[in-house]
Amino acid sequence: MTAEYKVNGAVAVITLNNPPVNGLGHATRSAIVSGMKQALDDNAVKAIVITGAGKAFSGGADIKEFNSPKALAEPTLHTVINVVESSTKPVVAAIHTVCMGGGLELALGCNYRVASAGAQIALPEVKLGILPGAGGTQRLPRVLGLEMALNMIVSGNPVPSEKLAKTALFNEMIEGDLLEGAIAFANKVADARPLPKVRDIKIDYPNYEGFLQFSRNTVRAMAGPFPAPLKCVEAVAAAVTKKFDDGLKFERELFVDLVQTTESKALRHAFFGERAASKVPDVPEDTPTRPIKSAAVIGAGTMGGGIAMNFANAGIPVKILEMKQEALDKGLATIRKNYENTLKKGKLTQEKFDQRVGLITGTLSYEEIGQADIVVEAVFEDIGVKEQVFNKLDEVMKQGAILASNTSTLDVDKIAGFTKRPQDVIGLHFFSPANVMKLLEIVRGAKTGKDVLATSLQLSKKIKKTGVVSGVCDGFIGNRMIEQYSRQAGFLLEEGALPEQVDKAIEKFGFAMGPFRMGDLAGNDIGWYIRKRRYVEKPEVTYSKTADLLCEMGRFGQKTSAGWYDYKPGDRKPYPSQVVNDMIIKHSADLGVERRKISDQEIIERLVYALVNEAAYILEEGIAQRASDIDMVYLTGYGFPLFRGGPMFYADTVGLPNVVMAMEKYAKGRHGEAWKPAPLLAKLAAEGKSFN
Ligand code: 3HC
Ligand code: NAI
Repeated sequence: MTAEYKVNGAVAVITLNNPPVNGLGHATRSAIVSGMKQALDDNAVKAIVITGAGKAFSGGADIKEFNSPKALAEPTLHTVINVVESSTKPVVAAIHTVCMGGGLELALGCNYRVASAGAQIALPEVKLGILPGAGGTQRLPRVLGLEMALNMIVSGNPVPSEKLAKTALFNEMIEGDLLEGAIAFANKVADARPLPKVRDIKIDYPNYEGFLQFSRNTVRAMAGPFPAPLKCVEAVAAAVTKKFDDGLKFERELFVDLVQTTESKALRHAFFGERAASKVPDVPEDTPTRPIKSAAVIGAGTMGGGIAMNFANAGIPVKILEMKQEALDKGLATIRKNYENTLKKGKLTQEKFDQRVGLITGTLSYEEIGQADIVVEAVFEDIGVKEQVFNKLDEVMKQGAILASNTSTLDVDKIAGFTKRPQDVIGLHFFSPANVMKLLEIVRGAKTGKDVLATSLQLSKKIKKTGVVSGVCDGFIGNRMIEQYSRQAGFLLEEGALPEQVDKAIEKFGFAMGPFRMGDLAGNDIGWYIRKRRYVEKPEVTYSKTADLLCEMGRFGQKTSAGWYDYKPGDRKPYPSQVVNDMIIKHSADLGVERRKISDQEIIERLVYALVNEAAYILEEGIAQRASDIDMVYLTGYGFPLFRGGPMFYADTVGLPNVVMAMEKYAKGRHGEAWKPAPLLAKLAAEGKSFN
């Protein structure tokens, strides 16, 4: 049983008890129905209270059950709500902490609702690509009015219970003990008849057509590729235009359709993927962590500044160390300017601005950072410079301090070897702009302590990042994969495509930015620098020379107002560049390659499957712990379209045998060696299995 039944005088109390959030899975639903039956059969019981144990009233339907027969097994949530709503004895929902989705729908089926302050009230289904499917779209507008209910349903955002205290959603706000208050309320209404039902409330909104049309237009414009938001509007519209039971039926039909969509499956995959990423099998949740009350950052460049802001935003004082006063001043000024822009946009209060700016200080002296609990190194990507810095950190940092490197490609084990405390060393790979991007790759070295890893995972939550653990390899998860993607982008240029075509095709697929626009934004010289190193270290790996030729022309990207595209000074809009296109075409001729028309489908397949194949190696080698971790890296750090669920999820949707078949086709073309399927991919495809 996942709900408890107790009788307190004349009041029966049904307490949902399905940790962690009282999800309304099949067992819980059954327990509610049997609790209701027991209460109705007991003559001594005059009223019923439904509440939740632990940290939620209820987080809603059990998402893990979706698309499984259990979701449809009786009693469904509809049946449960029916049983509650048709009760002959008053039912009171006692709401606290979290009341979401199906949980709120259950509460709306009760005759009365009481709540404590601070409860998060939401119908967040849209965030999972669905809509409230157990009457939420029909009942919420009846208690909150059309506009407020529509806003909540389309945004999915929670509203604190106290803000809704004056609406018909709540009959009473309870101060002090919620259950005591709810029982007292239930005793008060025990004899009230007729019993009020939300379904009987009439929605009074004279000009609803105009409002609904306005809502459709607004929501269509912001929904992007997701079908759910517009369907939410249609379902809410039915609350006004249809009889209650017809509206309920209509909502159900929309729900059933949406649950099957790839977009919804992708969003649910991301929901669980984000939570799974924080779990490391050999580092259990009760692993001791180290306190992080102060931080230091080495280097006040592009990354160091953003990293420091993360600490300050979380209320952790941070000292930035630079080599020269000038560089330090420049870095601190950039940080200040960033905060000023946020302040100007009204996204930060003056008080928070002062607080955050005040938490960031600068220094030129290592002695001043020695007492920090964590130090993140963000100096030049050069192993010699990293060696100097880590030697020094080993000398000055207090025992127990975490020594982290933000390196994007270098060997974290080697860096750990520059110290006498490799157990304290870890990679914390932030993404640019570090104060904005959600991804944090947490690179676990061979000797990294479990407590250091656990502390880093905890820290990632504190600074509101999605932390994903990676093993040590060149480029870790994200950059190792992007290298294959970039190589294909280069080969496509040699074979017949131009930057604009490649970018447009992959952006139409849903990427935030194509590889060439991205190169211009990040600086093409960074990749050039890395390739030069690879030409020496890995001469067997081939690259198109077009990117090198571009850099030889001094076209580093937006920073030089010229890259793959032309730019007007001060303007980020890319214009196709005749000189670059001429260079590309000439390069093909020099290679003796006859340029051909390349389809958008080929572009998408070659870029995305290059990611997938490398990811399969990464998974097999144990660099990533699970396929969904790779998806989270790409969704939160590389602009992979959310509605496609990440590269691994996307490959699963296409079907791994189809992916392998396409790769075999490309293996017959130029640079065919890149298309040898990774053993894991070949195996899963042959067995008809998927990554996730
Ligand atoms: N079903 C199943 N598991 C759920 C769940 C749900 N509705 N909501 C949360 N969980 C699980 C999480 O997967 C996680 O599991 P784990 O410990 O094994 O990783 C655990 O509960 C804790 O979740 P969080 O880490 O997110 O805990 P927080 O305390 O930070 O947040 C929360 C709690 C606000 C409830 C948040 O989990 C959340 O937003 N959950 C989703 C709520 C939701 O979308 N509800 C609607 C469901 S769909 C529905 O009701 C359909 C109906 O209309 C028919
Ligand atoms: P940057 O060149 O903008 O900044 C580096 C800063 O470090 C400079 O201000 C420099 O003065 C300072 N510095 C150099 N040596 C130092 C030393 N010995 N002591 C103290 N300060 C020193 O470089 P950026 O882009 O910030 O990169 C830093 C690190 O972050 C590199 O390892 C890079 O690979 C990594 N990284 C960069 C990303 C990017 O998009 N720029 C993304 C993720 C990681």
